[in-house]
Amino acid sequence: MLLTKVRLSKALQLTLAVIKPDAVAHPVMLEAIQQKILDHNFVIVRCKDLVWTRRDSERFYAEHSGRFFYQRLVEFMSSGPMRAYILAREDAIRHWREQMGPTKVFRARYTDPASLRAQFGLTDTRNTTHGSDSSESARREISFFFPDFNVEEWLEKEEPLFRSRQICYDPQKHIHTLSSPS
Ligand code: RTP
Ligand code: MG
Repeated sequence: MLLTKVRLSKALQLTLAVIKPDAVAHPVMLEAIQQKILDHNFVIVRCKDLVWTRRDSERFYAEHSGRFFYQRLVEFMSSGPMRAYILAREDAIRHWREQMGPTKVFRARYTDPASLRAQFGLTDTRNTTHGSDSSESARREISFFFPDFNVEEWLEKEEPLFRSRQICYDPQKHIHTLSSPS
């Protein structure tokens, strides 16, 4: 366990972040993305590795069914292991999407060369990461990936503790925890 220097004063927002199969397949990319999450002061509330069935993928991306890239996307997202996170931070949704950069890799390289998609993205489908785009999507997506996690309860009970107590990082489980009160 490592004590962190993160100091959180403003209200924390939750978001759902996913490292997609293209990036999980490359340990160097996976490590770099994980490090970026830590460097940008996100609190990792939950982390899990998983593989989707094609059905999971179709359900998650139902809003895109009918788009020209849907079949390609569904196939890719069920093609191998992914890593999903619940992240907390002030303005977490916007900050995580900023770190990802634009959806299209070519555009990302042009407009946000330091973003994850610019650095590691392969194509517009294989673009390294996912991030919720609104608080409604974050709620829906968090319960899709972490059905036992209660957003309301976390915001009510845990959020104040993460702001008032020292936080530790567990590098084995890739999550932050509260240090015991002194
Ligand atoms: P995400 O949902 O993955 O965080 O990405 P996003 O909001 O930036 O993009 P969205 O429009 O929600 O699209 C979801 C995912 O579909 C794939 N996609 N491919 N032109 C294409 O080939 C295309 N457009 C979208 C990407 O994997 C995108 O992340
Ligand atoms: Mg999206």
